[in-house]
Amino acid sequence: MTTPAQTIDYLGKFRLMRRVARGGMATVYEAEQIGNRGFTKRVALKVIHDNYAREPEWLQLFIDEAKLSANLVHGNIVQIYQFQEVDGRFYMAMEFIRGVTVRALIDRHRALDEPVPPAIAAYIVSRVCRALDFAHNFVDDLGRRLYIVHRDVSPGNILLTWDGQVKLADFGIAKARTMHDPAEAKQMTIGKKHYMSPEQVLGLKVDWRTDIFSSAVVLFELLAREQLFREIETEAAMDEVTVAPTPNVTRLLPEVDAGLSGLIALAISKDPMLRPNAAMFGLALDQWCARQKTIGSPERLQEHLARLFPATYSPPVEARHESAT
Ligand SMILES: Nc1ncnc2c1ncn2[C@@H]1O[C@H](COP(=O)(O)OP(=O)(O)OP(=O)(O)O)[C@@H](O)[C@H]1O
Ligand SMILES: [Mg+2]
Repeated sequence: MTTPAQTIDYLGKFRLMRRVARGGMATVYEAEQIGNRGFTKRVALKVIHDNYAREPEWLQLFIDEAKLSANLVHGNIVQIYQFQEVDGRFYMAMEFIRGVTVRALIDRHRALDEPVPPAIAAYIVSRVCRALDFAHNFVDDLGRRLYIVHRDVSPGNILLTWDGQVKLADFGIAKARTMHDPAEAKQMTIGKKHYMSPEQVLGLKVDWRTDIFSSAVVLFELLAREQLFREIETEAAMDEVTVAPTPNVTRLLPEVDAGLSGLIALAISKDPMLRPNAAMFGLALDQWCARQKTIGSPERLQEHLARLFPATYSPPVEARHESAT
């Protein structure tokens, strides 16, 4: 016999600590969730801009996707804690990541004129693949596959914690983002065009294969410190991905081992059927890493971030030493 479900009213409160960033669609704050009897928890609070929140169709997509990703709990995915509406404003509370984005890492390497060690680049994208493999194969409580697709794998959505973990963010808003831009009041694609697959740029039906393409474009950018696709004007940007021949990645990355650039080449195939799935792509990257003298690992990434960002580096634990007993 089932008992009637009970609910407990949640009177959530957040204390905003500082604004982290203001993006096109939302503002991200570092905040403290305040509970009873002095309980607090650090969260990232994403507050959706009003012009998006006023658009019912768009908002519904956003809410649907937030609900879908609420249960995506995985070590390489930024976890969503809550989605709420207060006085007509919509916000999402999620795991607060102390560290940097892949965008910041690439920018720093550019500023220092120093290549990203290939094992670090491969390690980062292999962990993104783990996140994607989990999401692509995620099933609901009844065992039905949900066919979750991220759709916006890009350097700004891959976060690196100071202790060397890799976390993919913004599951849930990606679908909504690519469907409709209220600012333009018409159907259009507003994902980050330089990371989109040909099928996504063309507005065709996409599946998990689009995320593989985008992950490989990010891997290329880590290794090249230059974007693979960079046309600014929309039509030229579309042609670059859809009509122009697929870039010869191995030739564009002469310094990089052909075993690694070959993996990128396969994953950016125009024909989605030729791309590996996330598990295979991740495994191939891990195997490539294992063959290198200096392997990619959280410890290695932590050390790397400590060296690159000395002013802001602040890990949650004392630096780990692999040789420590
Ligand atoms: N969970 C989080 N913890 C800490 N910082 C975060 C978190 N999520 C986002 N950020 C920071 O906020 C910035 C803005 O995030 P936001 O998702 O709004 O924009 P974006 O990822 O740069 O681009 P887009 O709007 O296309 O997703 C990120 O670049 C990152 O620096
Ligand atoms: Mg983002």
